[in-house]
Amino acid sequence: MSSIAVFDSGVGGISVLKELVKVLPNENFLFYGDSKNAPYGTKTLDEVRKLTCEHAKKLLVDDGCKGLVVACNTATSAAVRVLREMYPNVPIVGIEPAVKPAVLCKEHPKVLVMATPMTISQEKLRKLIDKYSDKGDIIPLPCPGLMDFVERGDLEGEDLRKYLTELLYEYRDNKVDSVVLGCTHYPFAKKLIQEILGDKVLVFDGAEGTAREMKRRLQEADLLENAENKGVVEFRNSLDGEKNEQKVQLCERLFTRVL
Ligand code: DGL
Repeated sequence: MSSIAVFDSGVGGISVLKELVKVLPNENFLFYGDSKNAPYGTKTLDEVRKLTCEHAKKLLVDDGCKGLVVACNTATSAAVRVLREMYPNVPIVGIEPAVKPAVLCKEHPKVLVMATPMTISQEKLRKLIDKYSDKGDIIPLPCPGLMDFVERGDLEGEDLRKYLTELLYEYRDNKVDSVVLGCTHYPFAKKLIQEILGDKVLVFDGAEGTAREMKRRLQEADLLENAENKGVVEFRNSLDGEKNEQKVQLCERLFTRVL
């Protein structure tokens, strides 16, 4: 049976894959991470669009996947519209920062939106922030370098703690009401982010909404798997040789990690 492709610039999209497997347990998934070209978040829009379209073509045309989840906020803002034009009959779902639930969590909250520099600079996020700007104080925070810790599998180490303590200094100890993890790598650093921001801060990401949207799109296209048996998940990565094996092992570890 044909798989659903899940694409990210690296291992971060596994935070979305985990939700997809919960919502669509009978489907097969092919997770593809482009760690060779990561990070995407500090590249130009054209570079990210080109890379995303190349990989989508491989997954949809060569591998024959029946749908695509762009499990990367950066690649979504750069390429999801173009991809939908290129493959109008394929369910293609992107992810966007969960600004809405974070703003609606209480009366006029202070909301921190953590994302890559590219996502922060794009019109897609600017429009989303404008839409909710009368409902709360929304603070966009570019986090260059944060995804690299997750790519290395460093989720709780001292270097990451130091990086986050400096990055979040102004907002520590419950100075914001909610935080949006606007990059799919960041949920893997959630424990430390929560510890630094404070225990009252509500944390949001877009993984669950994306998974539910994919289910809806598959249903609509009559592409849902009917079989009752549990689907399988395959991990692939653009790195070569030994580095590829190490990355696939990291993917398997992250996939079973409780977030
Ligand atoms: N995981 C990606 C995202 O959701 C980006 C990480 C990167 O390549 O910079 O934005």
